[in-house]
Amino acid sequence: MKLATVTSWLDERLSISALAKVASKKEVPLHRHSIWYYFGGMTLFLFTVQVATGILLLLYYRPSAEGAFESVQFIMTEVQFGWLIRSIHSWSANLMIATLFIHMFSVFFLRAYYPPREITWVSGVVLLFIVICFGFSGYLLPWNKLAFFATKVGTEIAGVVPVVGRPILRFLRGGDDVTGATLTRFFGFHVAVLPAAATVFIGIHVLLVQLHGMSVPPNLKAESVKKMKFVPNFLLRDLIGWILAIGVLAALAALFPWELGEKADAFAPAPAGIKPEWYFLFMFQTLKYLPAKIWVVDGEVVGIMAFNLVAVLLFIVPFVDRSPENKRRRLIFNIIGLIALLFIVVMTIVGYVT
Ligand code: HEM
Repeated sequence: MKLATVTSWLDERLSISALAKVASKKEVPLHRHSIWYYFGGMTLFLFTVQVATGILLLLYYRPSAEGAFESVQFIMTEVQFGWLIRSIHSWSANLMIATLFIHMFSVFFLRAYYPPREITWVSGVVLLFIVICFGFSGYLLPWNKLAFFATKVGTEIAGVVPVVGRPILRFLRGGDDVTGATLTRFFGFHVAVLPAAATVFIGIHVLLVQLHGMSVPPNLKAESVKKMKFVPNFLLRDLIGWILAIGVLAALAALFPWELGEKADAFAPAPAGIKPEWYFLFMFQTLKYLPAKIWVVDGEVVGIMAFNLVAVLLFIVPFVDRSPENKRRRLIFNIIGLIALLFIVVMTIVGYVT
């Protein structure tokens, strides 16, 4: 095929007029659960905030054990508005994970994964893991005490998995211990591997949403549900949410600037009561409650394997629960979802206050 033919084919489909045509056709169902349709867009918006502020941080950040902490200190104290950009990046990361969890649970309870949206769900689960990896890798980058020991504990937990645990630990750390090599590695994941993977999967996810349109929950009659045009009506509502999010981020960053703490020191004792970021707390807390031995296996190993199993089960949800007519299965899945949600919320609160 000639290049000219390819470019004209692309031009036809990707031209502004073609995009405008797609946008003008997009509609959003209006019903009592429509509020949940905002959370995917909000997650996407916060992701763009992460990309923009992350690029600005890259202008000054240095990824080495000798220079990372000092470069972040420089950003916080010398670079104009550096403290603001860093605080927004950190707060927005946390807010994004929160909206991502809300988005996931809402599409779960609204059954937005029923056919033909199975792959939309699967690409979403991949995005969930990518976003969690963003959080874990980014946390180490300031190279402070808390991050250093949290990474030590986090990678140790990965190392507990039988057979593959040890190689995974060594791969993550770039050796047996958390060192400058770990920092360089995490930096590579955080600014190259994960953004590339996120771009691909967000592309697939959003493309599939456009292809299938927004779903209507199975307990409502799709034909009798009113619709709203996405452009401009719903998009303008989305925009109000995004402006509010900027306000919240600015307020959080100004009132509670992200702390830097002390520089990491491999020879210093671990700070007392070290805890991971809030989105890992429910797992951390669960592991604490498990007995040292469950039958002949270490309690920790059983717990970690159970969480791995849940991760696999998350992928296959749309292939197990796939018929809207099966009300009994719907009820069972609602109960499972509620128990999971309650478990995460309670364990996170307990982990936070104890
Ligand atoms: C970076 C992470 C993510 C982004 C940026 C994102 C973005 C979006 C957007 C913009 C939509 C359309 C609007 C909406 O329904 O809210 C959407 C829909 C959807 N998302 Fe996500 N999403 C992410 C993660 C996830 C996760 C973790 C899951 C589930 C495991 C998921 C499952 C779905 C499903 C099933 C739909 C279709 C909803 C429907 O048709 O009603 N997404 N996503």
